[in-house]
Amino acid sequence: ASPLRLGIAGLGTVGTGTVKIIQKHAALLALRAGRPITVTAVCARDRRKNRDLDLSGYGWEEDARALALREDVDVFVELIGGDEGIAREAVTAALRAGKDVVTANKALLAIHGQELAELAEANGRVIRFEAAVAGGIPVIKAMTESLSGNEIRRVMGVMNGTCNYILTRMESAGLPYEEVFEEARQLGYLEADPTLDVGGIDASHKLAILSAIAFGTRPSFDAVEIEGIERVSIDDIRRAADMGYRIKLLGVAQMTGRGLEQRMSPCLVPADSPLGQLQGGTNMVVIEGDAVGQIVLRGAGAGEGPTASAVMSDVVEIARGVRMPSFGQPAATLARPQPARTAVP
Ligand code: HSE
Repeated sequence: ASPLRLGIAGLGTVGTGTVKIIQKHAALLALRAGRPITVTAVCARDRRKNRDLDLSGYGWEEDARALALREDVDVFVELIGGDEGIAREAVTAALRAGKDVVTANKALLAIHGQELAELAEANGRVIRFEAAVAGGIPVIKAMTESLSGNEIRRVMGVMNGTCNYILTRMESAGLPYEEVFEEARQLGYLEADPTLDVGGIDASHKLAILSAIAFGTRPSFDAVEIEGIERVSIDDIRRAADMGYRIKLLGVAQMTGRGLEQRMSPCLVPADSPLGQLQGGTNMVVIEGDAVGQIVLRGAGAGEGPTASAVMSDVVEIARGVRMPSFGQPAATLARPQPARTAVP
């Protein structure tokens, strides 16, 4: 069979991890995909950066759009990030040019997911984003494939590892927020703009994507009610612990009588529950379906290997010829979300 040829834009943590998997598991991937998976060319901001990676067999493009438009690229893999600018332009160009797209870009999907899914369908292409939510946890495929026999009742979870690290470390070390925040910065856990993490925005991007799939609504980041962890004090954490609870930055999406509720906020969860036990930089997603009951998925929500693992699941799916719609149903059938602004008990 003919190889599936990738153009990979962005060689940061995730891009590097993706190239490593393709090189390390070439034979295994070819068996699973039914055809070889190759890299035509890559692009990144800094060509000379030492990545501990052999890129000698690949072409190099200066510009992500040029990479997306190359005739010898079948799938454009966007690992640049950001909801505007070059990532959005290149993904749009790729879909218009009849390429499939794989991306890890949660902000792009949470804000422009509807438009991109429609564009993909109009061009007979797919856009896949398993890596955009909860890193290595296969939550998108769980919901769009494995749970397609269910009406989803609720999706919730801890979807930002950095916030979970900060909150668990505050409790275990008895340190104030500011000190642990500084620690997280030095460990390189924080996004370039830390507000994305501690302000709950990154996690809300992920929640907006999951709730679109769960409830058949257009992804709508604007409809998420967001409160970050900046004001959680060590006293709050101690008081919660005294009552047998932990504080987690919890995202909850559920359909209520008054519309779709999407909320991201510091919540009390029982210390002995799966969510309460979640330590460090890990993620957990809890899905409730009418037929299946409750499913708990836990794993690494970030990092080179886990996120690249998710990227490759999309690549292999495309190589196999799976053409399912991005949000589990045709984009045109996704309803406009009617946000329920008041908190539900
Ligand atoms: N900053 C994110 C986190 C990275 O801490 O979970 C993955 O999106």
